[in-house]
Amino acid sequence: MSAQKTILTGDRPTGPLHLGHYVGSLLNRVELQKSYKQFVMLADIQALTDNVDNPQKIRTNVCEVVLDYLAVGIDPSKTTIFLQSMIPEIAELATLYLNFVTLSRLKRNPTVKTEIQQKGYGDAVTVGFLTYPVHQAADITIFKGNLVPVGEDQLPMIEQTNEIVRAFNRTYNTNVLVEAEALIPRFARLPGIDGKAKMGKSLGNAIFLSDSADVLSKKVMQMYTDPDHVRVEDPGKIEGNTVFTYLDVFGTDIITIAQMKEQYQKGGLGDVKVKRYLAEVLNTLLEPLRQRRAEYAKDPQAVMQIIRTGTEHAREVAAHTMMEVRQAIGLNYW
Ligand code: TRP
Repeated sequence: MSAQKTILTGDRPTGPLHLGHYVGSLLNRVELQKSYKQFVMLADIQALTDNVDNPQKIRTNVCEVVLDYLAVGIDPSKTTIFLQSMIPEIAELATLYLNFVTLSRLKRNPTVKTEIQQKGYGDAVTVGFLTYPVHQAADITIFKGNLVPVGEDQLPMIEQTNEIVRAFNRTYNTNVLVEAEALIPRFARLPGIDGKAKMGKSLGNAIFLSDSADVLSKKVMQMYTDPDHVRVEDPGKIEGNTVFTYLDVFGTDIITIAQMKEQYQKGGLGDVKVKRYLAEVLNTLLEPLRQRRAEYAKDPQAVMQIIRTGTEHAREVAAHTMMEVRQAIGLNYW
């Protein structure tokens, strides 16, 4: 057994990745791949749970998301990038887990509960959707993931995973399954360009990593600032002012930023000037990513090959755990 910890994390491939992903998860993954065995899953089966009639969207975005991964520096020689749907062992394990989870427990999962409300499913929620946390438990444990870097909203999933792990190990008197620990990113959530608490692809308030410099600048120009800062001479607020929040996160020249803040608060600094500066900061940051992305995008087959190689490796690991699980239960007939 290796002492090196295993990281398992994933994304639903339902759209290109944005700056919120960049600070919330992608940068972390680039760091973590240096010292851990890292698996990053394209959760296409999970994405289907609320996109059942739109598989094409998922299919298209698999490649987009991987291009984003490669653009930010997730290195396929260090990180195993793989497709959930191509590893049937995950579904097999999830089936076994279903016996350890009650309906009322699933309905109490806070994240799922909120999602059911938001999507207006009510009692018409599908079993597929309701049980996605159980599948997620299989995603994590089949790779013996010790550390799971996720946002706060995913904490209930880790909790539910560990309940399953403990119940399974106790019932079959084994220790094949390992408990997982959530790794919450240092950065708080990045607000959307509209100032809302969260940037989201479906909220229409995101700056995508794949946005051109032009599109990015336009989005920055629309950003929410201080609604009471009407004239340049007026003193402005920097708290809750998205442009300054972004400068705090992405800016590197802290002296310039401190001066701008001071002038903005005193009065005499216009929004447009700050926005131009922010657009420049972001474009400087994203330019090398765009170039790398464009390079990889020229050869979609090579990208698919990266996913395929990763998936083949991931499947070997998953099959091995599944064999141990079968042994533990006594489902190893020959
Ligand atoms: N539920 C996660 C999300 O919506 C995606 C995901 C699926 C995941 N399986 C996972 C994350 C396993 C971490 C570990 O973002």
